[in-house]
Amino acid sequence: MQSITIRQPDDWHLHFRDNEMLAETVPATARCFARAIVMPNLVPPVTNASLAMAYKERILAARPAGSQFEPLMTLYLTNETTPADITAAKAAGVTACKLYPAGATTNSDAAVKGISALYPVFEQMQKDGMLLLVHGEVTESHVDIFDREKVFIDQYMVKIVQDFPALKVVFEHITTGDAADFVLAHGANVGATITPQHLLLNRNDLLVGGVRPHNYCLPVLKRNTHQARLREVVAEGSKKFFLGTDSAPHAKHRKENACGCAGCYSAWSAIELYAEVFEQLNAMDKFEDFASNNGPDFYGLPRNEGTITLVKESWQVPELVTLADGTEMVPFFAGQTLNWKLA
Ligand code: NCD
Ligand code: ZN
Ligand code: ZN
Repeated sequence: MQSITIRQPDDWHLHFRDNEMLAETVPATARCFARAIVMPNLVPPVTNASLAMAYKERILAARPAGSQFEPLMTLYLTNETTPADITAAKAAGVTACKLYPAGATTNSDAAVKGISALYPVFEQMQKDGMLLLVHGEVTESHVDIFDREKVFIDQYMVKIVQDFPALKVVFEHITTGDAADFVLAHGANVGATITPQHLLLNRNDLLVGGVRPHNYCLPVLKRNTHQARLREVVAEGSKKFFLGTDSAPHAKHRKENACGCAGCYSAWSAIELYAEVFEQLNAMDKFEDFASNNGPDFYGLPRNEGTITLVKESWQVPELVTLADGTEMVPFFAGQTLNWKLA
């Protein structure tokens, strides 16, 4: 196969950050995606409709000239979120709410401590047709970091989907066979995003031959058997799994650090890397559904009208991206050669 044309895809999970950074991140995503679910973990977080709409305006202002790219906004759930916040957000056009257990990941200190306290909020979300997006990891210090997703499923996910059977729940950036099997075992209202890094890499790529800070993201890369299960479920083509890059830029010096932060900035290479995965899996016939159809179908949004074309052509991911203020970032797969290129 020398080229492939698919319906224009969307990115159902990413981090644009804010202000000056938007001039970098928005064009990088708008180069191929029509829409993106924009994560709300700013500092301070996006916790209500007016913050979300103001953030949306800043994103729209950073679009390249002529771009029709549409950001889909999310609210960050905290212990202060009320059912009235949900209704107001829905009315303002917010698409979904994000649940971060406190301390689970970058900028999640403000997040939720006791999930059951949020039940009135989930109730309202179910009623209003607001999706629940979940960073599914427990944060208790005694739980091994490689087990945190599995423990979250057992302690919380099982209960949430059981207690809110009509709530659409997206298990974000799944990393384990346990999560994939949990999603497959539940109804059409439970789906999941999968990142390029969790399909392409496992924890050896983080730790063998030296620590690779640019492969460090949360949930952390797992053992190869989990990677294999994720690859298997996307190759099988279940409608429940869709593209979410979790592109999450951080300055180079904050990742190459004695206490390096989590996140892979994949916007410049993500669609190409996914194409590579599906080709490796001999599942190119499932690529378009994963990238362009399953997401809007799950969200209840129209599929995009346009198309993109990827061609078989080698190119090298840049070693560095430099922002206008001189901040340097290392993109995911920096310096590596990819086989598919966006035409
Ligand atoms: C994300 C970030 O940097 O905001 N980091 C990451 O490792 N994925 C947060 C997140 O998605 O959990
Ligand atoms: Zn997350
Ligand atoms: Zn994320």
